[in-house]
Amino acid sequence: MNRGEILYEGKAKKVFRTSDPDLYLIEYKDDATAFDGLKKDRLEGKGVLNNALSAIFFTLLEEKGVETHFVRKLSEREMLVKALEIIPVEVIVRNIAAGSLSKRLGIPEGTVLGRTVLEFYLKDDALHDPMINHNHIYALGLASAEEVAQLEAAALEVNAVLAPYLKERGLILVDFKLEFGRHKGKILLGDEISPDTCRFWDSSSGEKLDKDRFRRDLGGVVEAYREVWRRVKGGENGALESQD
Ligand code: TMP
Ligand code: ASP
Repeated sequence: MNRGEILYEGKAKKVFRTSDPDLYLIEYKDDATAFDGLKKDRLEGKGVLNNALSAIFFTLLEEKGVETHFVRKLSEREMLVKALEIIPVEVIVRNIAAGSLSKRLGIPEGTVLGRTVLEFYLKDDALHDPMINHNHIYALGLASAEEVAQLEAAALEVNAVLAPYLKERGLILVDFKLEFGRHKGKILLGDEISPDTCRFWDSSSGEKLDKDRFRRDLGGVVEAYREVWRRVKGGENGALESQD
């Protein structure tokens, strides 16, 4: 599958058209940013790990009945996906207090939440991705009530699949961010699922194995991502080679 015109270049990924109008190609980059791009670095090997991890998580979710944009891994850094019209709403799922929730509500990091918390943020860098609720989504015409119900159900289902899967591998799924889009009248899970977009803590030590190592200058960022990959890769062999 050859790359066509570049459609979008983000902080951590590039998206290309392909010869098939229904399919896009995603390339995972080694660049990392935080705090709206204020903090930047190149983390050698991150793109390869995020591609590998996203492929593993999307495959698992598809097996469990969650519809995603994932088609297949093309190479170390590339995956083929269904073309989505992205809904500009980030859906955050939280099991344990951390990050912005801890800050905003004064709840210590690590506090187990009494129930899973879903949040919506408007995808708009210039506005620093402000938090929004259902009313804003309808008022701005971002998605219909039926679509929002589908996003919420899918987000909770992703949590119900990934949390126990990771627990068996010694990882706590603290929180994560999802993006969805429309494809041929259906809502599909899009974007990526990786240590850039999730918080993973080691079950016994509590060690952070995700992008907070970069955000908080803890060091060992790529090593932590590799450790997550090592625990979830299952039967795959040591090398991070393409599956084709
Ligand atoms: P937060 O605590 O900073 O709001 O982050 C919640 C989750 O969302 C966390 O797993 C990291 C992820 N996230 C992104 O994927 N992209 C972002 O731009 C931000 C701010 C958070
Ligand atoms: N990706 C976001 C940024 O570049 C924030 C983050 O993940 O912390 O600013």
